[in-house]
Amino acid sequence: MSTKGRVAVVTGGTRGIGAAISIKLKEAGYAVAANYAGNDERANQFKSVTGISIHKFDVADYEACVAACTRITAELGPIAVLVNNAGITRDATMSKLNHDMWQEVLDTNLGGCFNMAKAVWDGMRERNFGRIVNIGSINGQAGQYGQVNYAAAKSGIHGFTKALAQEGAPKGITVNAIAPGYIDTDMVAAVPKPVLDKIVARIPVGRLGKADEIARGVLFLVADDGGFITGSTLSINGGQHMY
Ligand code: CAA
Repeated sequence: MSTKGRVAVVTGGTRGIGAAISIKLKEAGYAVAANYAGNDERANQFKSVTGISIHKFDVADYEACVAACTRITAELGPIAVLVNNAGITRDATMSKLNHDMWQEVLDTNLGGCFNMAKAVWDGMRERNFGRIVNIGSINGQAGQYGQVNYAAAKSGIHGFTKALAQEGAPKGITVNAIAPGYIDTDMVAAVPKPVLDKIVARIPVGRLGKADEIARGVLFLVADDGGFITGSTLSINGGQHMY
């Protein structure tokens, strides 16, 4: 499973699941560029602990994504691996959900996948090699009370993955998704405790997942010898949702 020092970009790559992915890829020999949107303190801390390069830009901003990918390519080399992990929640029931909360989540979680994939796509095609992993969610597969915006965006990621996989296949580019369940991160910690307790009670494995348990799925999918795995969704959710 050679990596040949390939360059990997991980969006939202300095915290939570993204941080675990960045670290896992670095340990496997990839040259990693970890994107983050706003939390300078946590990003700088991540950089000093891991030695992984950090890149601040908003994945919802197409021009910013293109500029960042150009910079990363100049600094580290052509981008071979893209992990679209950046995501936000703006949870509320439909009566309280406003248009801004809808748009922000769609623009970041789903729009970000398009913006980044578009920015790296032609280069991957020219080089006849690419690995894209999009981080979806159990809540995009099954829906979730209070997450009309998030579930729609994550569900969109799963469709995006299957369509783009078909276009990438003849050019050596695989496009896959991972659908994490409830993982022990800041995002999940923000769910009110009584609500979270009820969710955890429905996880057959009996606990929240660990970020590293998602990262190992990413490492598997991006491997050089993973060329026949494309358009698939790997569900890593402790048995909470099976279909
Ligand atoms: N099914 C049915 N009814 C539910 C429900 C559910 N799952 N959850 C809440 N309700 C009911 C409540 O019992 C309550 O009913 P009553 O008024 O009759 O008591 C009513 O809905 C309102 O609930 P809340 O008091 O919770 O309403 P709120 O406006 O204060 O909060 C909410 C609503 C923001 C959606 C809150 O319930 C919440 O945060 N839920 C968690 C949503 C969630 O799971 N988010 C996942 C975040 S992590 C993530 O997204 C990562 C990933 O990919 C897995």
